[in-house]
Amino acid sequence: MDDELPLLLVSSLTKHFGGIKAVDDISFSVKRGEVTGIIGPNGAGKTTLFNLITGFVRPDAGKITFKGRDITHESTANIVRSGIARTFQLVRPFLNLTVEENIKIPTILSSKKFSSSPEKIVKKVVEMVGLERKAGEKANTLTHAELKMLEVGRAVVTKPDLLLLDEPYGGLSRNELSTVTNVISRLSSEGITILIIEHRLSELMKNVRRVLVMDQGKIIADGQPEEVVRINRVVEAYLGAKYREVQEDAAEGE
Ligand SMILES: Nc1ncnc2c1ncn2[C@@H]1O[C@H](COP(=O)(O)OP(=O)(O)O)[C@@H](O)[C@H]1O
Ligand SMILES: [Mg+2]
Repeated sequence: MDDELPLLLVSSLTKHFGGIKAVDDISFSVKRGEVTGIIGPNGAGKTTLFNLITGFVRPDAGKITFKGRDITHESTANIVRSGIARTFQLVRPFLNLTVEENIKIPTILSSKKFSSSPEKIVKKVVEMVGLERKAGEKANTLTHAELKMLEVGRAVVTKPDLLLLDEPYGGLSRNELSTVTNVISRLSSEGITILIIEHRLSELMKNVRRVLVMDQGKIIADGQPEEVVRINRVVEAYLGAKYREVQEDAAEGE
């Protein structure tokens, strides 16, 4: 395979909802092995971008190329099969099933060929997301942080080349953050390319070398986190979200 080829190539991608330009002529590419952050205020279009890449929402214009293949008009099932998995901003596991059962479901639904048995793969994924001690427990006994990791497990078990995480730190307390950071770092070391939507810049920066900043459907900056946060336009766009983050952190400290 050609390593120079970007894993994901997004060209002039556009999605409007009525008068709202949720994603407005966005272009960027992601190299294999990269861990990239996507930040930006609420309503910037971050989740819509993930919805477009995974086929949940259809673009008005533009093109998405994955591993050199045009997937713009593929079904979500075909996109997953081709190697893209995602988590959602809000967790949605099967609460009456165990951790292992929840993680196993995508392997049953997938028509993908796996190199080892589903049991082995599930066991490995349970470890990767740090839920070994909860493997046999029902999902309804998990903490919010553990549920988020279960979601990651359900995505990872499909053996994605590209993993899209939508606010993996959302709703977590400060002492739960490092668990998620460690899991992301482990997934990256397994060779998974990762895109992470996240408000909490300081935690995000422990894993990412590159940040895309979105505002009003546009990418307004793309670079190393340390550089990007110094750009005036980013500071202005981000001020609202940053303020919320400070508020959230303060609320958690109470
Ligand atoms: N299915 C939809 N129908 C109508 N408007 C939508 C839909 N999805 C998102 N939007 C709008 O698109 C904009 C971007 O939303 P979203 O992608 O969720 O932003 P973010 O994830 O950055 O907070 C917002 O104004 C939102 O209200
Ligand atoms: Mg969102």
